[in-house]
Parts: sequence; C-alpha cells; structure tokens
Amino acid sequence: MNKNYNEQQLINLDDFELIEITKLSEFKTYPCDLYIPLSKRKLLKLFLKEDVVDTIRLENYIKKGIKSFYAKKTEIDQKLTAVNKTESEDIPVISEINYLPIRTSTLIPDQNITFNIFAMNDDGSYPILIEANSIVNQEQISCLLAENLRQVFILDHDEKSYQEYIDSNLKQIIEKVDMKVEEKAEVVSDHVCNKLESMMTDTSEESIKTLNVAQEHLQDFLKSSDDAVGSIIKMLTNDHQTVYNHSLTVGSLAYATALEITKMRQNPETASKVKMFDEYTLDSDEIRNILFSGALLHDIGKLIICLNHGLMTEDNKLPDEIPAELLSEHPKAGHEHLKKFKSVHPKSLEIVIQHEEFCDGSGYPNHLPKSQISIYTQIISLANYYDNLVSSKKNPLNSERALQEMDKVISKFNKYILPIFKTVVTNINASNAN
Ligand SMILES: [Fe+2]
Ligand SMILES: [Fe+2]
Repeated sequence: MNKNYNEQQLINLDDFELIEITKLSEFKTYPCDLYIPLSKRKLLKLFLKEDVVDTIRLENYIKKGIKSFYAKKTEIDQKLTAVNKTESEDIPVISEINYLPIRTSTLIPDQNITFNIFAMNDDGSYPILIEANSIVNQEQISCLLAENLRQVFILDHDEKSYQEYIDSNLKQIIEKVDMKVEEKAEVVSDHVCNKLESMMTDTSEESIKTLNVAQEHLQDFLKSSDDAVGSIIKMLTNDHQTVYNHSLTVGSLAYATALEITKMRQNPETASKVKMFDEYTLDSDEIRNILFSGALLHDIGKLIICLNHGLMTEDNKLPDEIPAELLSEHPKAGHEHLKKFKSVHPKSLEIVIQHEEFCDGSGYPNHLPKSQISIYTQIISLANYYDNLVSSKKNPLNSERALQEMDKVISKFNKYILPIFKTVVTNINASNAN
C-alpha cells in the first residue's frame, strides 16, 4: 500500500464500550463518535459526535442485524448506557456490509468527501483509503490511478452521500481532461437515470427541477465531444434495459438528430436538403431542451400504470410484458401525471401524449394525422421506434436490421427526417466500432 493511504490503526477494544443503536434514536445529534469494527482490531468511525442523527441509516444497520456501535469509554456520559460486551460477542464486522464500486476518476481534487473510500485487496478485504469528512487532494487521486486503481469502494449505505457528491460536482467531472469519455458517459447517464427514478417517488415540483438540471449537464456532456452521443448509446445498449435508459437513449438519439439538422442547415452544401425545417428553430438550446425533456419523460406513463396496477417487479422494474389494454393508456397516463408540474414545458408534454402517434394516422391514442403531430414528436417517434426494435426483449434486432425494418414502414415517419436519423445512427455505429 502506498504510504499516503490513510490506513486504519489497530486499537485496543478495551478502550471502547458498546452502545445500542436503538438508544441513539432518542438523541437529536450523536452524543459521541461512533465506530463499527472493520476487523477484530480495527474500528471505522461511522458517525461524528454532534452530527444530526440519521434514523433511516440507523434502521438500515438494525435490518442488517447490527445492534450496537462502539464508542470511546472517555466520551460516554450518563445519558448513554453501555451494553455488556459479553452479551454481544457476535457483533458483525463491517465485512458483512456490502461495498459498492465507484470510479476513482469521479473524485474531484480539493473537495470534501462525506463517505469513506476503500480499496479491495486480493484476499477480499477492504482497507480504508480515505476517511470520510476529509479533503481528497490531486496527489491522492493520481496515486490511485498510477497504481491502476480505477475503481474504489464505498459502503452501500453511503450511496446517497456519493450521489449528492456527484450532484454538486458533475460539471467539474464533465470538464475533467484526464477522464475518458466512456467513463463520463457512465457517470452522467447514471445520474440522469437516478433523477428520473426518484421522480417516481418524489412527485414534488423540485424533483422535476432537479431532473432539468441533470438534463442540462447531460446536454453539456453531449456537446463536449464528438464521441459523447456514441458513448452514451454504447453504454446503454450494453446495460440492462430499463425504461430509464430507454428514455435516455431516445433523448440522446433525438438530440443528435436535431443537432445534425442544425449542422446541415449551417452548411451551404447541405442546407437545401433541410429546407423543409426552416420554420422550426431546431438549432436553439431551448428547443433541444424541450426535445430532450420530452424524450426523458415520454414513457413515464408506463411506470404510473404499472405502479397503480401493482405490476412492478420485486426489484421495482417494469414487467416484461404490460397487458395491451393498459399499455395503450400510457401516453395519456404520463400526460395526466406530468401536467401538474409547472416546470414541464407544454411542448414536452405534447411529446408525451403524442409519442406513439404515426404520420400515417396508425398510431395511438388519437390516430393523429402528420399535420397534427409536432415536429419534435416526429423526431422522438423515430428514435423511440428504433430503440424499441434494438432493445426488444423477445427479438432484438441489430442496428442495421432495425433501420431496414423502419424503411419498410416509412409511411409512419417523416420521410425527410428518417434519412437524417439513419445517418446519425450510422455515424454513431462507425465511431463506436473504432
Ligand atoms: Fe411509449
Ligand atoms: Fe418509448
């Protein structure tokens, strides 16, 4: 181990007493520093004296079968009664708690971290590298990377703290020069998917605003490199398909299509090919925001319906199949749910209700003709149709086959946008193949 690593020191357990976790919930702030054993002779400080008591975290420990924490004898006063150690010999050590991998490259120099960071040894033990409530410096990050420690670990109960850390540092992560575009894609898309997921449980206006901020970061990332869209798509297609990463794929493809139309418009050699879009201002950031947020939210109705009908799987995912009569309701259900929020743009709402409509009138719920389907929805519809073909659970098609299938039903789509969309997908495939 590098000498800069903050190794936990051996301690004498005789200097410590055990404190029952249930007793702690009687306090507003922790009455003393609290520790959990990393091994028989090593303790890890979990909670700091005078920090606000986090009852949810305490309950999580109890659920894991941990009844007590250690506290220094000298810090315990009359308000706390220590547990007789002989009665609690079997206190689990922290190795029974799950560790989650995080990318070392997501650590930002000179920022405070509120979670402990561990390495993993070949023998399966997790030595502590950096203690919570300390500042990570560039030298520490460089040391880890130099030793090829591209992945470090946090405790699973610290996942929320890590997400908060990412929330406040995402801009710096996107701007990092020593981080690969694929790594950034993973961090940014995880972040957006998390925000989308939390919107389902937190139906406040604030959750939509948080999603909008996450979306802006994502768009900054997509603009930051020519490989950015491709790296997002590649990562999402390798990942387990959820409604969240489907929405993110649709958003990224629609965004890239709008960007391509803008580029063609600005180039005198190709401008005539996109003349039909002259009345639409697809090149403003605001419009691309609307397009993206419509894409991110387009299938939210599926989640609402499945939640309302108790159809979600045990791990809170959509079922493999949603009954057709319920599925046909999802554009309306999503629209109904989202129209309560002031922060959702009316044009994004329109995308949600219209995204299953087709230009030949064969779509649903209103069998709209092309003239009544917004240009934004017409772009989303292509990306949605394509991703449904390539990520189908029953019969996934490769990209080339999916584009061929779309050619067969060309009357469903805007015939001017389809070739541009195909160019976008082909370019992404070519850049991902390199
Ligand atoms: Fe849909
Ligand atoms: Fe969809």
